[in-house]
Amino acid sequence: MPTVPWGSARIGPHLGVGDNDRVSGVSSSRAWFERAGAVTPGGVNSPVRAFSAVGGTPRFMASGSGAWLTDVDGNEYVDLVCSWGPMLLGHAHPEVIAAVTAVAARGTSFGTPTTPEVELAEEIVARTPADSVRLVSSGTEATMSAIRLARGFTGRDLVVKFAGCYHGHVDALLAQAGSGLATLGIPGTPGVPDDATKATLVLPYNDRDAVTAVFEEYGDRIACLITEASPGNMGVVPPAPGFNAFLAETCTRYGALFISDEVMTGFRVSRSGQWGLDGAREGWKPDLITFGKVMGGGFPAAAFGGRADVMSHLAPLGPVYQAGTLSGNPVASTAGLTTLRLATDEVYARVDEVARIISGAATEALSAAGVPHVLQANGNMFSVFFTEEAVSDYAAASAQDIGAFKTFFHAMLDRGVYLPPSAFEVWFCSAAHDDRAVQRVLDALPTAAAAVAAEGDR
Ligand SMILES: Cc1ncc(COP(=O)(O)O)c(C=O)c1O
Repeated sequence: MPTVPWGSARIGPHLGVGDNDRVSGVSSSRAWFERAGAVTPGGVNSPVRAFSAVGGTPRFMASGSGAWLTDVDGNEYVDLVCSWGPMLLGHAHPEVIAAVTAVAARGTSFGTPTTPEVELAEEIVARTPADSVRLVSSGTEATMSAIRLARGFTGRDLVVKFAGCYHGHVDALLAQAGSGLATLGIPGTPGVPDDATKATLVLPYNDRDAVTAVFEEYGDRIACLITEASPGNMGVVPPAPGFNAFLAETCTRYGALFISDEVMTGFRVSRSGQWGLDGAREGWKPDLITFGKVMGGGFPAAAFGGRADVMSHLAPLGPVYQAGTLSGNPVASTAGLTTLRLATDEVYARVDEVARIISGAATEALSAAGVPHVLQANGNMFSVFFTEEAVSDYAAASAQDIGAFKTFFHAMLDRGVYLPPSAFEVWFCSAAHDDRAVQRVLDALPTAAAAVAAEGDR
């Protein structure tokens, strides 16, 4: 059985067409995948990691540093997944690692209040419209708890969500969700009882008429509307101008709570997340807001928060129960706090710049090769749809040419660029993407675009 060659990674990609993974030298990843498959369903602990949508062997990563990942075979990649969003500063940022190491040496979990969780909550409250936050361990827990609180606060049952928006694997929210369900073409999932989704109303994204109609019919029974603050789980599909403000107003008019899910956008698209790009400028606030990813700095930490009067319904102040053995864990809180403190205006400026350069070069290369595509961006989050028309909802996102993405993905991987292994995900950059890393991506793009064009000609 192979062992992980920690610290023995070779520098530079090991390229060359040879097997069905197209890159030579993935034998250790392949062996680990087989070994994993014997003890874990599909060999992975989260479905999209299995490469089911793109084929080939998932790369088992041995280490990450800045913008770079090194797999167990020693292949080096520029990372455009960034752990699906959290690694805003890049991998193994020295100050984050030092802070985490120091706190871990004093003990990793006590089941009591600790000071890092207070400081992390203060940092979040200072940056966002939330009056207070409760820390949890995953984005799924955050959205699940926010919905429970909304139902407890309003005394109503119905939840409104949008097709293509993913809010974690919460039973009530797995109706027409994006992310892995979109990747794998799963509309809902067995194991979720009808009763769990019967109270969920699913609407097309960006469709004001559909929102108005559903509130006119069910307004007095709707507990909350939850939306990704700017969807990234069907690829990047930004809200039409004023759409979030319209949702907030509609909820207020009907006494429902507006939940803005900022698990992906929070602390990534700006220091105050998506709200910093729209709500803060337009003068509205969500009633509840959920966070995850960046605020954990690569550790399991997430949060939900919002209006003081709503949050006071949570136990121990109020009757709505919610708890967690590892919630507010001092190591995870320290990683998140250090990350947020380091996420300065300069960091956001660099991430924005890297996103602009890479997205611009991607669309240029695809256009030059004559490949139909649409590039969509929201701040520094962007993705490419292999389709002809702008994408404003899940139906349009689903109509893209998945085969073209698959070819493009593997051509990039062959050239040492690690894209998300799904056509329905964001390409994430970090402030650690320096000129050398960006150049690797720019060098790979024309060949990958040509590979898609050649496939189309066949
Ligand atoms: C917008 C959004 N909400 C919730 C979640 C769930 O977060 P987690 O995977 O930490 O449970 C995700 C995960 O990708 C997400 O993108």
